[in-house]
Amino acid sequence: MLSGELVTLRAIERDDIEVLHGFDMAYETWPEINYAPYAPKALEEVLKAYDGDEESSYRGSDAFVPFSIVVDEEVVGTCCFWGIDLHNRRAHLGIGLGEEHRGRGIGTDATKVMLHYGFVDRGLHRIQLEVLASNAAAIRSYEKAGFREDGRMRESAWVRGQFEDEVYMSVIATDR
Ligand SMILES: CC(C)(COP(=O)(O)OP(=O)(O)OC[C@H]1O[C@@H](n2cnc3c(N)ncnc32)[C@H](O)[C@@H]1OP(=O)(O)O)[C@@H](O)C(=O)NCCC(=O)NCCS
Repeated sequence: MLSGELVTLRAIERDDIEVLHGFDMAYETWPEINYAPYAPKALEEVLKAYDGDEESSYRGSDAFVPFSIVVDEEVVGTCCFWGIDLHNRRAHLGIGLGEEHRGRGIGTDATKVMLHYGFVDRGLHRIQLEVLASNAAAIRSYEKAGFREDGRMRESAWVRGQFEDEVYMSVIATDR
């Protein structure tokens, strides 16, 4: 288990999936997380993938390490490293909280814990992410945790009927 000031990060348990799936299916923040058209899945289908051999966003692998974010014993969201690249010693950070848990510092705390885990436990050199330019809360939270902007992909994402820039951000081990 990993601990921050507010959060505990632990492996996703099967019993967490119903809550996490509810967060993940929210129409309002689907574009922020998926970069794809809204395509909801039934809980039953998601649990079947988790229990079987199909790819599941709730089960880890060599290149993908997901966590449940827990505050006061309640599952409030999820975060992960995906695309872990051992040659270049880099990984992408992903994070999402249930709507009612946002804006209270939880995301920033979980991000800081992931940075410590990535650099200290996993020996990563670079942790990176992509975020929609309009996602001001996420960008602010990443900056508070230590991320810097690397650059932008102009109008690279089709979001809610228009094109939007994507911001590329990273932390290098030596930034800390
Ligand atoms: C992104 C996310 C994980 C951040 O976690 P969080 O707990 O809400 O973030 P925090 O409370 O730690 O920090 C948010 C900061 O953004 C600020 N903020 C919130 N809305 C804002 C807005 N519209 N404009 C500018 N700043 C904003 C807050 O004031 C806070 O900064 P402050 O502490 O300096 O006041 C969370 O909001 C979330 O799950 N969003 C939906 C999914 C998502 O967008 N995931 C990221 C995809 S790249």
